[in-house]
Formats: sequence, structure tokens, C-alpha cells
Amino acid sequence: MIVESGDVIPVNSAEDICDIHDFWLADIYPSAGKYRRVDMSKEGFPFAQSNFIEKLMTKLESDFLAKYTPCHYSDLDQLALALGIVHVELILIHPFREGNGRTARLLADLMAIQAKMPPLNYISIDQTTNQEGFKQYILAIHAGFSGNYEPIKDIFKMLIKQSV
Ligand SMILES: Nc1ncnc2c1ncn2[C@@H]1O[C@H](COP(=O)(O)OP(=O)(O)OP(=O)(O)O)[C@@H](O)[C@H]1O
Ligand SMILES: [Mg+2]
Repeated sequence: MIVESGDVIPVNSAEDICDIHDFWLADIYPSAGKYRRVDMSKEGFPFAQSNFIEKLMTKLESDFLAKYTPCHYSDLDQLALALGIVHVELILIHPFREGNGRTARLLADLMAIQAKMPPLNYISIDQTTNQEGFKQYILAIHAGFSGNYEPIKDIFKMLIKQSV
């Protein structure tokens, strides 16, 4: 159980993220919980080079997880920005061979729960059932790569609203 009797397991460090990935996906991926050793891209968009992942995860921890988790924002814009920034930064590192999207969505859920919100309903950005929503979500990740977090904040604002 990730969430037990209202207590949420900590997601405060790179190690916590590896533990979640391992705990959740070890049954299907033998490399669960371990950083990828190959470079990867999707649709021509490159994620972090594999030899930088460890350093970048440490930076994710110090620059973003330390600031935004545990997440206690009650203001919708602040909460959406916190979830969006952490989500985009983890996706851009793409630390694992598989399961980065799932892990980043679970992390956003855990942060939402920390902020006393329900876990999020991602149907409106689902790749198979909502292609336009997915396209906007991917554009928001690309904008985050260029240092603009507004689009991912707006996506998470919409997701939070659709989840309450
Ligand atoms: N073209 C793209 N550019 C940037 N990021 C992308 C692109 N396509 C997908 N992504 C990101 O990569 C994630 C998928 O990565 P990965 O396959 O490791 O995760 P997953 O959990 O296996 O899959 P999914 O998120 O589809 O359930 C997506 O959720 C999205 O955040
Ligand atoms: Mg995948």
C-alpha cells in the first residue's frame, strides 16, 4: 500500500522515487528501481543523457522535491504549479527505462494527497482516449524544457479541477 490510513509515504528524495518505481513495477520490469543506462527519446524529443541521470536526480531532490514535498498548498494555482514543475522535471530526466509516466503521475497523486486533495483523474490527457489533450500535455512538457512552466501548470489545474 502506497497510501495507508491517510499517511502518505514520503516522496522527498531520489531514493524514494526509485523505491516507488521498484515497489510498483518490479514484477514487470527486472530493472525496476534502477536508473537507465541507455539514452532515450520519444518522437525525436531527447530526455536527459543517461550518464547525467544520477546527478540530475540529486538536483531534482535539492531544487524541487525539497521545496515542494510534502506538498501543503491549498491555493489551486500554487498546488498546480508545484505538481506541474515536479512532474515536468521528472519526465525530462526520464530516469527509468520504462514507467516514467506512471511514476511521475503517481508522484503527482501523492503530492495531491499530501495537499488533502484526491488522486488525479488523468483521462483528459490519456494518449489513447484523448489525443488532443495528450498533445497539449506533451507541448506543456516541451515548454517546461524551455523554462516555461505555465502550460504544465494549466494542465494540472485542469486535472485537479476534474478530480474533485
Ligand atoms: N514526444 C514526447 N516528448 C516529451 N515527453 C514525452 C513524449 N511522449 C511521451 N512523453 C512523456 O513520457 C512518458 C512516457 O514515458 P515511459 O514510457 O517511460 O512511461 P510509462 O509509464 O511506461 O508510459 P505512459 O506514461 O504512456 O503510461 C509520458 O507519460 C510523457 O510524460
Ligand atoms: Mg512506456
